[in-house]
Amino acid sequence: MTDQPITPPAAPAAAPGGKPGSPRWRYAAGGVLFVLLLAAGLAGFFLAYPAKAPDALGRAIEDITGANPHPVMLLRPSSQPLSALAQLGAQIFRDPALSASGRQSCASCHSPDRAFGPPNDHDVQIGGPGMTTEGVRPPPSLAYLYRQGPFTIGPAAGETDAVIPLDQLAQQAQGAPRASKSAGVSPAAAAMVPSGGLFWDGRDDTLMGQARGPMLNPAEMANSSMEAVAAKLARASYAGQFTPLFGKAVLHNPAMLFTEAMSALSRYQIEAAAFHRFDSKYDQWLEGKARLSHAEMRGLRLFNDPLKGNCAGCHLSQPTRDGLPPLFTDTEYEALGLPRNPRLAANRDPHYADMGLCGPYRTDLAKQTQYCGMFLTPTLRNAARRGVYFHNGVYHSLKQVLDFYNYRDVQPGRIYPHDGAGRIAKYNDLPARYHVNVDVADAPFDRKPGDQPALTDAESADIIAFIRTLDDADRRAGGASMR
Ligand code: HEC
Ligand code: HEC
Repeated sequence: MTDQPITPPAAPAAAPGGKPGSPRWRYAAGGVLFVLLLAAGLAGFFLAYPAKAPDALGRAIEDITGANPHPVMLLRPSSQPLSALAQLGAQIFRDPALSASGRQSCASCHSPDRAFGPPNDHDVQIGGPGMTTEGVRPPPSLAYLYRQGPFTIGPAAGETDAVIPLDQLAQQAQGAPRASKSAGVSPAAAAMVPSGGLFWDGRDDTLMGQARGPMLNPAEMANSSMEAVAAKLARASYAGQFTPLFGKAVLHNPAMLFTEAMSALSRYQIEAAAFHRFDSKYDQWLEGKARLSHAEMRGLRLFNDPLKGNCAGCHLSQPTRDGLPPLFTDTEYEALGLPRNPRLAANRDPHYADMGLCGPYRTDLAKQTQYCGMFLTPTLRNAARRGVYFHNGVYHSLKQVLDFYNYRDVQPGRIYPHDGAGRIAKYNDLPARYHVNVDVADAPFDRKPGDQPALTDAESADIIAFIRTLDDADRRAGGASMR
């Protein structure tokens, strides 16, 4: 965009008289022309430097230029060379010799090339000693977990210091009204909502505690015991790197070796920049350094609009008050009532249901049936790079995801199969007695069959264009280098 030249018209000689064509009239016309040119010049200036425009102009400028009229400074985690422990973690993360099959490492299911999400478009990954056992949920991305707090049930994580046992908290929450969530609007009353934690059901709290899961999980790396893993670690090419950190004895102390390896894995995920780049086009846009296309800009507004997509009601899109970049999750749990995935081996058993917070993989909240069907809201950063979506891997494209949000209630026949009696089997992945837990309050889920869908197909496509701006810019970096 080039600036308009601001050339004040030559001031005509002042003279008495006001008839058209007279010197005085010409003087006035010159003034008008001056103002017009000045306006054109300012418009040009604001188009080139949108950040300097006053608020009222902001939206118009967004429309024309795609630039952010109110740029912010984002506080990114500082980037430092990996500590010795984290470097060790990077090697453990990629070492297939640590699995029972000898063919699977953490990176096999959490691919550095795909934001540490699944390496392929399969519904779930396989693992086990013979690499023939099917998993039950798709691997989440491991990126952007560094701010994930511990699992808790309450008004907001971290607001109270009191340590109240979870089952007690859950009981208090029973019968409390569910707060509905709208982008940009804080609910009037604090509802007791579960939030935080790792895995789709929040059953582990720390990256360190978490890593022991896949090492020993029979459907994953399938080691028979902690000692079996320690024996492999002691034989690894990088075994020598443990001794300067923990002393020679560590190689002969399986419990300690295993624990330190888990802590190395966790340091790697916390320290390595590849896990929290914050260099997407949208981050650049927030900082006033990139412009969104018309489709991306429309998509951003629909994503945020509480009456349209309302996606930002749960997938937060604004930086925090302290300037931390948005993670596109509020880290809370919701029951969305997804259709059952008939392709999953586990689902051949008609009595099997993955109910998230209330089981079967998480066991401590089994009696808190108000949570049956609830799963953690995942980040949407790098979502366009995934080939599989939701906790049961039922969808494989963002178009299918958008159709689910848009048509679940207004045209459920497009989303769910018909049952034996010819009725639409709504929420067919959850036992009927828990259907009341499914979110019917938040847009776009607040509609009835036959209502207008919240989004046109063109609007859904715009939201997808926006979600693509959430891909990390540096595709190679996660894969090629360890940082
Ligand atoms: C066979 C595939 C597979 C392997 C191998 C594997 N994972 Fe996972 N990972 C998964 C799946 C599936 C989940 C989700 C499980 C659930 O929610 O119940 C998961 C979840 C996680 C999570 C929680 C992510 C979140 O968003 O809450 C972390 C962290 C993680 N894995 C780290 C690791 C580490 C470290 C290793 C290596 C020691 C590893 N994984 C090996 C499949 C795998
Ligand atoms: C009421 C909260 C809520 C709203 C509103 C919401 N989501 Fe979600 N979203 C979730 C939860 C919870 C999940 C995980 C559900 C599951 O797997 O059972 C999810 C999962 C997703 C996923 C799958 C990500 C992955 O890694 O598998 C995508 C993509 C997504 N949402 C996009 C959107 C878009 C686009 C909108 C707006 C049209 C939206 N969401 C609105 C809560 C919400």
